[in-house]
Amino acid sequence: MTKVLIPYYSTFGHIYTMVKAAAEGAAQVDGVEVKIVRIEEFDAVKAAMSGQDAYDQAQEMQKDVPTATHEDLKWADGILWGIPTRYGTMPAQMKQFLDSAGSLWMNGELEGKVTGVVTSTGSIHGGQETTALTTFVPLMHFGMIYVGLPYGENPEQLTTDGIGGSPYAASTVAGPDGSSQPDERDLTMTRRLGKRIAETAKKLHG
Ligand SMILES: Cc1cc2nc3c(=O)[nH]c(=O)nc-3n(C[C@H](O)[C@H](O)[C@H](O)COP(=O)(O)O)c2cc1C
Repeated sequence: MTKVLIPYYSTFGHIYTMVKAAAEGAAQVDGVEVKIVRIEEFDAVKAAMSGQDAYDQAQEMQKDVPTATHEDLKWADGILWGIPTRYGTMPAQMKQFLDSAGSLWMNGELEGKVTGVVTSTGSIHGGQETTALTTFVPLMHFGMIYVGLPYGENPEQLTTDGIGGSPYAASTVAGPDGSSQPDERDLTMTRRLGKRIAETAKKLHG
């Protein structure tokens, strides 16, 4: 079996919806096992956000998702990260997860694994591309093989609407107040990215 891991972090649930679509796409490939895991929340964020309806509801939806471990990363042939934007880059929760994986880096444990990003922002220009591009940097340090969204398969990118993603990542715009939900085009491109990660991982790792 080819193994695809989808570690994600989601405060308000948009990325959670997106990674479920990515998992559907990956599962379309025969002989692929898909696992969704959740990057752990910080106690400080829990304390600050608990009591806000949107946060509490999103956390309740995700309560049964297993917590991501570094063993999960070793297990996987392909790793598709689901991360919202924080000030134009990845959330600290994700950075902490990567920063504490130094022994994996040192031992080359993630080298050759296929990777990619699903992201989201509050606004169209708030970081759709920068979050993916800046996440690419540490993933390259780990020696992973980055997979994006080619225009040929994703002609929806040729639009002036804020949907679906870029050559660098599948994405959605949550809206400044978080009230927008992923568009069907966002989900379609996310499924395709999940499938592409699974297909590439299968080709490289069997
Ligand atoms: C601390 C903080 C920083 C944020 N920074 C940005 C930003 O730089 N650009 C942007 O468009 N949205 C920003 N947002 C909005 C989030 O990206 C948005 O809520 C998220 O993509 C929704 O995904 P989720 O529902 O999975 O959490 C920020 C939100 C928080 C809480």
